[in-house]
Amino acid sequence: MRITRTVAETRSAVAELRGKGALGLVPTMGALHAGHISLVRAARAACHAVVATIFVNPTQFGPNEDFSKYPRTFDADCALLEAEGVDLLFAPEPAEIYPEGFSTVVEVEGISDRLDGHSRPGHFRGVATVVAKLFNIVAPDKAFFGQKDAAQVAILRRMVRDLNFPLELVVCPIVRDPDGLALSSRNRYLSPGDRQSALVLHRTLHRIEARAAAGETDTAALLDAGLAALADEPGVRLDYLRIVDPNTLEDVPTLRHGALVAVAAWVGPARLIDNVLIPPRP
Ligand code: PAJ
Repeated sequence: MRITRTVAETRSAVAELRGKGALGLVPTMGALHAGHISLVRAARAACHAVVATIFVNPTQFGPNEDFSKYPRTFDADCALLEAEGVDLLFAPEPAEIYPEGFSTVVEVEGISDRLDGHSRPGHFRGVATVVAKLFNIVAPDKAFFGQKDAAQVAILRRMVRDLNFPLELVVCPIVRDPDGLALSSRNRYLSPGDRQSALVLHRTLHRIEARAAAGETDTAALLDAGLAALADEPGVRLDYLRIVDPNTLEDVPTLRHGALVAVAAWVGPARLIDNVLIPPRP
């Protein structure tokens, strides 16, 4: 696996990989776990060459967020990516991505203020800007993202459509631990007790899903059932629990056309997110 640090080196390394079949891109912030690896495997299966990126993107963190303490496990990450047959890893420093005088941003308006964008102002501007840059630097045929970050997926889909990026965005299912906890780099912040409490996120989604499967379509009733499940863990501080259209992230009154049930909560020092997609009724 070749490792590049600059845009110029990356462009010339990518040029050597191109042309023999589809080129896949897997953007990450490192601290890799089986969720990230599932994206790499999907890319490996669908593409001739796979480029991964590791960049803890400062512009998607708020001033009081965890940028400085975000886990950085570069050597272990490299070993994992190498074992998965990744061809190229682009791991730039912030100054390479945001040189002196950098002043252009990508703002996916409206939708970027919903869900996590509401709780984390400016977060999705940072995400959209860095992902647009990675798309321009690597020019992949397919780019792989996790359903775990459902709002991110909606925003990046919109960006790809609106700005005519010539690529396919591939969304991969959420990878969970056997007890249901969605894998996240931020799970490293959890004490054993926090980790136990964090299971309430998955239980909440599961309760809503079960009610929906039993025929309930009224989202207000489903949210009540979810909030009751969350109340089992008073130490977990809810940020949001919403039932929304997965494309616009706007609240929906019924499940008839399918919906995204999304939750975010503080568990000890970690802000965790999880979601489930409910398919449309036949
Ligand atoms: P990061 O949190 O490192 O996640 C990188 C990719 O892995 C994202 O597409 C995310 O949805 C996916 N992922 C994380 N946990 C997952 C899980 N449990 N199952 C499946 N996929 C999972 O998301 C980002 O980085 C950044 O915002 C980024 C897109 C790299 C832009 O900076």
